[in-house]
Amino acid sequence: MEGAVSSLSYSLFLSLFYVVIRLVCQWYIKSKMSSDDKRRTNYQNGHALPYPGVKTYVDPDTYEDPTQAVHEFAKEIDPTRIRIERVIGAGEFGEVCSGRLRTLGKREIAVAIKTLKGGYVERQRRDFLREASIMGQFDDPNIIRLEGVVTRSRPVMIVVEYMENGSLDSFLRKHDGHFTVIQLVGMLRGIASGVRYLSDMGYVHRDLAARNILVNSNLVCKVSDFGLSRVLEDDPEAAYTTTGGKIPIRWTAPEAISYRKFSSASDAWSYGIVMWEVMSYGERPYWEMSNQDVILSIEEGYRLPAPMGCPVVLHQLMLHCWQKERSQRPKFTDVVSFLDKLIRNPSNEPIQE
Ligand code: ADE
Repeated sequence: MEGAVSSLSYSLFLSLFYVVIRLVCQWYIKSKMSSDDKRRTNYQNGHALPYPGVKTYVDPDTYEDPTQAVHEFAKEIDPTRIRIERVIGAGEFGEVCSGRLRTLGKREIAVAIKTLKGGYVERQRRDFLREASIMGQFDDPNIIRLEGVVTRSRPVMIVVEYMENGSLDSFLRKHDGHFTVIQLVGMLRGIASGVRYLSDMGYVHRDLAARNILVNSNLVCKVSDFGLSRVLEDDPEAAYTTTGGKIPIRWTAPEAISYRKFSSASDAWSYGIVMWEVMSYGERPYWEMSNQDVILSIEEGYRLPAPMGCPVVLHQLMLHCWQKERSQRPKFTDVVSFLDKLIRNPSNEPIQE
């Protein structure tokens, strides 16, 4: 009996010893990690999964000091290099202006400047700058480019590339019926390519919608509006669910609405809605149906019909994005290849169902 007790306490001691050693090793490795290692580390679901050589997104909230995250991912701009010209909109945190930025190569480029209005509290400053910490990690022709931030003087600003045609929803409404199917598919291809980049980085957007896509003078579409929870706070379409989350119902996959399961597959659902918005020139998804009716109809299997003039294959791709089972939805890499083929070989497709 005495032998059994002592062998039990010995194995208990060994397990405890193992746990302590493991914790100490984890702490030591983490404390020795360089910023580059952190950048290459995927922190999905709180687990660190290093993929050597693959750049993955780092959640700025994993930094104890959010200011450190901003300076790691965004360049500080000397405000004398910025010339604000006019107010072009209002954001949750302050005005959005257009203007010019003198680059370090002494060129002048058009920029949009988001400002943080005075009288903010620390939390608002942190939430405002979170978007820059996220955007600054991306480098892709279909993602809005961050030029830098102003944090060491007032007003605090985020400076991004200027997109002459503004947001995609209003741009399409203004030019109803003016584009060829190939031009519209070109826009969709660009958006899919941007989201493919985001999903490869391990970033889930959560608020893909035509209102959050910007268009430049060459009709290039770029994904914008980053910032996790902040994005949804700022979105007039986001409504409170019964569980207290704020979600843009019409654009969001059922599993994300019902149990907050956001993933690149839920982004694929939203991408299908963006496809529908583009092919219908900025029509409101599900028209004037209430959010509750949208949820119930989707649950019963209802899906948006093909917009007028929309090729069958594009509506089929939308339906593919709106599969209830998220693992059945297309991957963004497949969406891009599919649209590329359509652009190369457009003529032999029937237009309407
Ligand atoms: N509105 C918001 N961001 C913008 C940008 N980058 N360019 C033009 N208009 C915008």
